[in-house]
Amino acid sequence: MRVRRGTAVAAALVTALVPATAAAAEPGAGIGDPYFPSYGNTGYDVGHYDLRLDYRPDTDRLTGTATLVARTTEELDSFTLDFLLDVDSVRVNGRPAEHSSEGHKLTVEPSRTVAEDRQMTVVVKYSDHPSTVGWGDVPSAWHRTDDGAIALGEPEASWWWFPANDHPRDKATFDVRIQVPEGYKAISNGELTGRQTRHGKDIFLWRQDRPSTTYLATLAVGDYEVHEDTTASGLPVYNAYSPGLDELAGPARASIERGAEILEFQEESFGPYPYNALGGVVAGPDADLGFALETQTRPVYSHAFFGRGSNTYVVAHELAHQWWGDHVSVDTWQDIWLNEGFASYAEWMWSEYEGEGTAQELAEFTYDAYPADSAFWTVPPGDPGADDVFHASVYDRGALAVHALRVAVGEEDFAEILRTWQEEHAHGNATVAEFIDLSEKISGKDLQTVFDTWLYTPERPDAAPGAAEQGPSTMSAPAEPESWDTIQRNRELFHEGGH
Ligand code: ARG
Ligand code: ZN
Repeated sequence: MRVRRGTAVAAALVTALVPATAAAAEPGAGIGDPYFPSYGNTGYDVGHYDLRLDYRPDTDRLTGTATLVARTTEELDSFTLDFLLDVDSVRVNGRPAEHSSEGHKLTVEPSRTVAEDRQMTVVVKYSDHPSTVGWGDVPSAWHRTDDGAIALGEPEASWWWFPANDHPRDKATFDVRIQVPEGYKAISNGELTGRQTRHGKDIFLWRQDRPSTTYLATLAVGDYEVHEDTTASGLPVYNAYSPGLDELAGPARASIERGAEILEFQEESFGPYPYNALGGVVAGPDADLGFALETQTRPVYSHAFFGRGSNTYVVAHELAHQWWGDHVSVDTWQDIWLNEGFASYAEWMWSEYEGEGTAQELAEFTYDAYPADSAFWTVPPGDPGADDVFHASVYDRGALAVHALRVAVGEEDFAEILRTWQEEHAHGNATVAEFIDLSEKISGKDLQTVFDTWLYTPERPDAAPGAAEQGPSTMSAPAEPESWDTIQRNRELFHEGGH
């Protein structure tokens, strides 16, 4: 499901960014992302992925059959998928097809040309040891653990476990059937719709019936301790804790199990929760993750977030992404501020709710944390560059940009902008330019200077947004917000595991 962008201006922008050559289904050509030109594919749109997998934790053997239900957007005598694993066979519309692999591209040549605007069903059978497979400098998204593995990465993750049109612009629903040795758990996104034990295997059926980008699909296999529940509003909850957490299990549970409450709080600002399941997976030290990721309905967290006690801030961050990144997804990776700026700001909002420091206080502390000559200010969050999509600036200055907007337009318009954005781009993609347009439309203000200052200028703005006029004041320095340490620690962790 590739969702078209709203405005003519935005459409013109896309045309300008996509090199003409990307339109042809040339092997290696991507969907036209300015930061990651080889990612994704043209010529078709996937509507649904059906993945039938078997995983052996002892040998790291993953065997799979992936069925992609797609629609062609042009006539195809060949097309590509993003995938690194060894492929046994490919069929297109029931007929065996030629296939070859190069880099992260699997090229498929259907035995008959598929006409434009037709349904195309692609079946890929494969088997490999994902932990042995890599591509260039790209960090592997396959994290093997003592008792299994976790598939998790951004911007790329599917390459290690299913063939995909791996770009946020192509969203699809998912069915994942995963078979593991008896006694192990296998966790993916959405709702657990079935579970059975047969011939010494446990089988889990997961269903994500709302569109998801490919990097937001995850798989975790291991000896997890599971807490299943239902929220007051009827959402099924599935939380999983690695057995390796030991003394961190308490703090992890004290944080993750507050998910329903955090979600209720966030619904007041962002609108109704867009999915029909909720949960989280907490990895143990053996996963060596170091980061968390907002995988749809079920974020995955490194144990490290709970190393200093409970941390509801990281949960607020990942759950806010369910709206900011998952429900409304970036159109290109340059739009990453729409994900990280708002998820980081959601930590400040949660701090206000918890009475552990206001967004204004956190904005001032964040601004002061980076001296004017720090390299931090040279990375504009509106265009951080492909190597820096998870730079501290995208998070901290990104949150400052959101606060600057709030200060500029006032509480009421700020609230309306956030909600309207979610409504207008429900289950779709959007750009920063569209966000700026909407903010100006709702507030009736010219906000160009505000956004230029906070998103695009490679230097430190004059003062924190909303900070009281500086004068030769006798005021004592404001007290450090109680949430400051935890939020700062979250920043360090997000960046450590980065690209
Ligand atoms: N989107 C994730 C988050 O902010 C960050 C993932 C960063 N990836 C990484 N390898 N550090 O929650
Ligand atoms: Zn984030």
